[in-house]
Amino acid sequence: MSRKKIEYLSSFTLGALLAVSGIQGAFAADAQELVKPCADCHGKDGASTEPEVPIIGGFSAPYTTDSMIAYQGKERPCPESEYLSGDKKGQKTTMCDIAKELSENDIEKIAAWFAAKPFVRATQESDPALAAKGEKIHEDNCKKCHADGGSLASDDSGILAGQWMPYLRQAFKEFSAGDRPMVKKMKPKYEKLEAADIEALVHYYGSFK
Ligand code: HEC
Ligand code: HEC
Repeated sequence: MSRKKIEYLSSFTLGALLAVSGIQGAFAADAQELVKPCADCHGKDGASTEPEVPIIGGFSAPYTTDSMIAYQGKERPCPESEYLSGDKKGQKTTMCDIAKELSENDIEKIAAWFAAKPFVRATQESDPALAAKGEKIHEDNCKKCHADGGSLASDDSGILAGQWMPYLRQAFKEFSAGDRPMVKKMKPKYEKLEAADIEALVHYYGSFK
């Protein structure tokens, strides 16, 4: 038998074995368990309906993974937040405490799970004149890494288009205060913006329906 044929056969056998033994099913159930508490704040499939809590369904796996690792190391600020539903409703926690409980393997599973969900844009009001101003600022400074209004998960830079405006204001506040690190090439672009420019950007991203 040729080497190729042996490889083909063995991978086929492995696939069949996995299917029979239910390992693939176990993986799915596991991810399902891991993401359950996330829904208490981030909503079903990460489509948050709460303006202070970011929509995370549809983020690329690398972006979610990097964010969770940053929270584990407290490299990102961890504002206190409250469970909005579920068994722990009303209890306070932070993303850093949540991330601390997860292994690298857990994070990979969680990130893959959210990457397979759609990013459901927030329903919110934005000011058209400010949004137009924000679009220009975005085109001049930000589109290189946040293409199409920051709507592409594949940029691995989060998704800005249609994200909740109150969350975006909070993220900008963290960048401006120097509490949340920025990638090297975002920093010079960001630092030349004034407060009014940032508010215009928030309206631009909020204008995506
Ligand atoms: C108690 C509420 C709560 C729970 C539970 C929770 N989160 Fe969060 N999460 C938040 C809030 C609030 C923020 C925004 C924090 C900030 O401003 O940095 C956030 C931020 C994030 C971010 C960063 C989003 C971005 O745009 O950069 C990711 C990723 C994330 N959460 C993933 C998860 C995952 C995965 C789980 C479940 C394992 C989870 N969260 C559970 C409240 C929660
Ligand atoms: C050189 C590439 C680059 C440029 C230019 C850039 N960014 Fe970013 N941006 C990133 C990356 C990568 C991330 C995600 C990593 C992180 O958390 O820092 C990010 C994260 C963000 C976030 C946080 C998203 C979230 O979900 O929390 C916001 C908001 C943002 N950028 C806005 C901007 C704005 C506004 C500009 C233009 C003034 C800009 N960026 C320019 C690469 C860039």
